[in-house]
Amino acid sequence: MTDKKIFFYDTKPYDQQAFDDANKKYDFNIQYFNGHLNYDTARLSQGYGVVCAFVNDSLNKKTIDVLKKCGVKLIALRSAGYNNVDLKAAYENIYVVRVPAYSPYAVAEHAMALMLSLNRKTHRAYYRTRDSNFSINGLLGFDMHGKTLGVLGTGKIGQCLIDIALGFGMKVFAYDKYPNDKLAKEKGFLYVSLKELYKQSDIISLHCPLSKETYHMINEKSINQMKKGVFIINTSRGKIIETESLIKGLKDKKIGAAGLDVYEEESEYFFEDFSSEMISDDMLARLLLFPNVLITSHQAFFTQEALTNIANTTLENIKEYFNGGYLKNEICYRCNKECKKKQKKRCF
Ligand code: NAI
Repeated sequence: MTDKKIFFYDTKPYDQQAFDDANKKYDFNIQYFNGHLNYDTARLSQGYGVVCAFVNDSLNKKTIDVLKKCGVKLIALRSAGYNNVDLKAAYENIYVVRVPAYSPYAVAEHAMALMLSLNRKTHRAYYRTRDSNFSINGLLGFDMHGKTLGVLGTGKIGQCLIDIALGFGMKVFAYDKYPNDKLAKEKGFLYVSLKELYKQSDIISLHCPLSKETYHMINEKSINQMKKGVFIINTSRGKIIETESLIKGLKDKKIGAAGLDVYEEESEYFFEDFSSEMISDDMLARLLLFPNVLITSHQAFFTQEALTNIANTTLENIKEYFNGGYLKNEICYRCNKECKKKQKKRCF
């Protein structure tokens, strides 16, 4: 084993399996830790130049300052989203790399699975038939064919979902901050204004990153602009939806169903087993009571292919760092502005 040491936070047995397999090629010295990375646990990285973190690790300024003191030089995210990292705090001290794409299919397929389950109520039918209740009262759905899907964010995942939806014979409206008209023409969907997307869509699926602009973009005002009975699917980031407004919309029957793979305050609960405990988060507890809400625990990415790709890309990112060269999956505070990425150099 090499002396190239990496401290892995928030790892579960399936992560360790995937990384142990991928590491046969790299032979890095990996230390796994199952707790989150935060201000209190950051000091465990002492003596490790590289830390590897996941979606619910909190890399705010306070945590990053401790990492700096511990001598960490690289944060390797094993996720695509990086909203949990204060890039400004890391800039010029710690490089940050991520896995930009590992399986957009996994997430898009999960989004469609949520839509189909909520529409045809398979999550409820499962419990009925197991109890020998073969009544289909209350399980009435609708044809997906001919319905309008609104896709918010037409990046890698949004595009995969558009392909799937078009295959179902759905009409697709999309909104993106940077629309790609050529793509829309090729695939056969239409870019519309946000207002139009809210007004026309039977189902709205969120696929944009969490940012200052998208934080709570689904709120009372936007929900009011939607069709009565709209389905809202979120496999992106929890904070894009203001949960209180979502609950109100569900109670008012304005929202017909919600499929949530992510939740605003998920970090305490998701990926953990609370089956013997009480849920003290009242909003999460309320959401779990709705028959037309289906919550999964940030598992949209969770396919064998995605885990393998995440492990391979993460370790390749780390190898690039140790080799001293260009970090192709680096992100920084100034990315796309003044950083040197365009010259294929490290950002700082
Ligand atoms: P991407 O970067 O390929 O696409 C994001 C799209 O959103 C881009 O087209 C961008 O122009 C657009 N966008 C940015 N700001 C916007 C705004 N204010 N309004 C409208 N559109 C905007 O990202 P990708 O790979 O498609 O992933 C999307 C998100 O999915 C990630 O940011 C991440 O938060 C989430 N994700 C969730 C996973 C899960 O397991 N639930 C797994 C992987 C990603």
